[in-house]
Amino acid sequence: MIQFSQVSKFYAGKPVVDDLSLTIADGEFTVLIGTSGSGKSTTLKMINRLVEHDHGKILFAGEEIHAFKPQDLRRRMGYAIQSIGLFPHWTVEQNIATVPQLLKWPKAKIRDRVTELLALLHLEPALFRGRYPHQLSGGQQQRVGVARALAADPEVLLMDEPFGALDPVTRSALQQEVARIHQISGRTVVLVTHDIDEALALGDRIVLLDQGKVVQQGTPRELLQRPATPFVREFFGRSDLGIKLLAQAQVAQRVRPGQAEGEPVAASLTLRDALSLFVARGTRCLPVEDEQGRPLGVLHLDDLVEEGGDGH
Ligand SMILES: Nc1ncnc2c1ncn2[C@@H]1O[C@H](COP(=O)(O)OP(=O)(O)OP(=O)(O)O)[C@@H](O)[C@H]1O
Ligand SMILES: [Mg+2]
Repeated sequence: MIQFSQVSKFYAGKPVVDDLSLTIADGEFTVLIGTSGSGKSTTLKMINRLVEHDHGKILFAGEEIHAFKPQDLRRRMGYAIQSIGLFPHWTVEQNIATVPQLLKWPKAKIRDRVTELLALLHLEPALFRGRYPHQLSGGQQQRVGVARALAADPEVLLMDEPFGALDPVTRSALQQEVARIHQISGRTVVLVTHDIDEALALGDRIVLLDQGKVVQQGTPRELLQRPATPFVREFFGRSDLGIKLLAQAQVAQRVRPGQAEGEPVAASLTLRDALSLFVARGTRCLPVEDEQGRPLGVLHLDDLVEEGGDGH
């Protein structure tokens, strides 16, 4: 759906994106990660033509992006950035409604959509729709920024460190929200981050950039278990590799029949959180339940250790 073929971008004669080839499939959640200055934001901005590439081809929906008017591209692609960029003299409602207004949606439809999005991002609609950006906390502003990007239900969501300035709790809540929106809508998401845990938690596919080049791309598990170069291994960190791998799998994948004492844990919990519970409760066996609270069996501490293989 979005395809880069040998794309380069030069500033002052130097390539900041260098011969980049990359395919982002429909409905996929792709994370671009890398050190500062590796070309992540530039790559993202070339997708909606905020930055024009110098060489190579970028295809969107099978056509060269040059075939689209930039404004059409931006209506089809939501864009959220760390610095938010809300219009200061517009209310939350007007900010969120930017693209629907451009698309000339009927007033009632816009109002309903704003209500829906505010609720989705846990901002009480009656309380927030009439406020101005300066009347919101940084985290609330970022949520409005994400709501604005989602407003016209774009085919593609481009996000450049959208949770940057948030505390860990709010950040984690917003990450889960975006993951949920991605699951429900099945939209294509491209997220830029330099937070490894965020990349591993959210990405179906991770693209690691260094000096404008792709060092490795693959599933989180592939990058963790089969790093292509020492740089990749270093980047994802050797010390807590095991913990990161545990975070990639869920209790449901390791349940076996049986019964155990204690408060049941959800099958959807990550094995990383389960490990934490084993230690906190001083036990080697936890009862597991499904979403409806029905008993599913047990998780054994020993079953975590088998994780070292391919995860099955
Ligand atoms: N408009 C510009 N003019 C000149 N150089 C630029 C411009 N925009 C970006 N660059 C340079 O291109 C390189 C890549 O920048 P880019 O913003 O894509 O990096 P990034 O990976 O997003 O970094 P960060 O994690 O710090 O946001 C950097 O060296 C940057 O200085
Ligand atoms: Mg950047």
